Amino acid sequence: MTEPTIAPAPPVTLVIFGATGDLTRRLLVPTVLNMTQSGLVSDSLHILGIGIEPGDDEMLRAKLEDFLTTSNIKANYSAETWQGLRSRIFYRQGDFTQDAIYAEIAGQLGAQAGRNAAYYLAVPPLFFGDIVDKLADHDLLKETDGAFRRLVIEKPFGTDLASARALNARILNRVPETQVYRVDHFLGKETVQNIMTARFANMMIESLWSNNFIDHIQITAAELVDVGTRGKFYDATGALRDMVPNHLFQLLAMVAMEPPNSFDAEAIRDEKGKVLKALRIYSSEEAGQNSARGAYTSGVSGGRTIPSYTDIPDVARDSATETYVALKLFVDTWRWAGVPFYLRTGKAMTARDTEIVVTFRQVPFAQFKGMGPQRRLTPNRLIIQVQPDEGLHIEISIKSPGLSVETMPVSLDFNYADFFDIGKLTGYESLLYDLFVGDQTLFQRADSIEAGWAAVQPFLDLWATSAERPDPYPAGSMGPQCADALIERDGRKWHQPDVEHRVKAKVS
Ligand code: BG6
Repeated sequence: MTEPTIAPAPPVTLVIFGATGDLTRRLLVPTVLNMTQSGLVSDSLHILGIGIEPGDDEMLRAKLEDFLTTSNIKANYSAETWQGLRSRIFYRQGDFTQDAIYAEIAGQLGAQAGRNAAYYLAVPPLFFGDIVDKLADHDLLKETDGAFRRLVIEKPFGTDLASARALNARILNRVPETQVYRVDHFLGKETVQNIMTARFANMMIESLWSNNFIDHIQITAAELVDVGTRGKFYDATGALRDMVPNHLFQLLAMVAMEPPNSFDAEAIRDEKGKVLKALRIYSSEEAGQNSARGAYTSGVSGGRTIPSYTDIPDVARDSATETYVALKLFVDTWRWAGVPFYLRTGKAMTARDTEIVVTFRQVPFAQFKGMGPQRRLTPNRLIIQVQPDEGLHIEISIKSPGLSVETMPVSLDFNYADFFDIGKLTGYESLLYDLFVGDQTLFQRADSIEAGWAAVQPFLDLWATSAERPDPYPAGSMGPQCADALIERDGRKWHQPDVEHRVKAKVS
């Protein structure tokens, strides 16, 4: 397939705070390489790395080169492309909390053509507020002479509703929302962006998209990876904070939003925001009834033997942090009244599997009465396979060949890999391109972030005071029994991933 031609983004200096960190070498630089190779950015893009580590331009260039040549990263570029970009990478050493480095940045930006700048905060969240204040103090966020100044903030954005509100207030005190780009990397995934197209470009999908025809929706982000060396971060975070108010809620918002009036960023963000604000806020008792949590014990996941969560470094032996969470939520709108949204995510599970499963209601099946309760028709399902094996599957019933009327479920399958080569992309290409051209559609707005935290706050509050600990589940399983009970008491079951297939997918 030929790609439509997209104009390269305007000249820009990507100022990366945290330039010697993991995010820069694993994602940002490979993404810029992919974009340079495919013409999404031109030679007018410069990278200015900022970090506390002593060194000069050559130090950062050599470090990145070493990483690119020795690791298996998702990038597809020629030696010439790297050499070109290499010469446009610069480094300044400095303390983010002190003024000196900001004077350096101002000097460096002054020397670049265009003077457009995107400040990427690839740093621990405790620096977010300080960096924004300093950038503003030094007039580095002021947009003059038609040049743009944009601020990119990675997750985690806050640790609860109060901290997210406080951070938004601090940032928006210094820079308008139109210049703030809050990243949720799930929005960079091709299949996530495809949700809107699947819905709004297909009458046969969207016309069935309501409580009239849909029984319930499941959103799963199961991971093979365990917590590994991230114990310090994870034990203070847990599965709920790490995945739900951000990634899973972005999927939920895409699935549940009303059609926007246009595909403008604000129109889309308004509709997504409305969904998140319509999530039912539970009382403490309801939060208990509608949630299940677990922590993995030792087991084999993805062919590797994994120690219990509480036995890994930097995790308290008596930790009450969950590595798995399942929630039953409601979106209180006319369209979704009465339709449960079951969400679950966990580490060290049977398979890597991020999917949205929409289960339609049973047909009245008057003609199939004689089939008896044992042979009820399987309801139609639409499965949006986000990763791995990106695709879309529609399960319908057909008559199996023969003289009697026997129905059987079959799946109509679309797999991206059969038509497109998306394997070598990092998933950040569309995010960075949109950042450079000033399209905020795929970035989170302050109100949506806060609405997401508001909906999970009752669970956080409940667990913070609860004497109960998460239920154990063996690594390599699909979660604790209490999560099965959560859905089974409604007469439903979790969708089983295609394990054999998915376990083969790389642990990433
Ligand atoms: C991150 C979480 O935001 O998302 C990780 O901090 C998680 O814990 C990751 O593993 C999942 O992202 P992906 O793209 O690998 O599904």
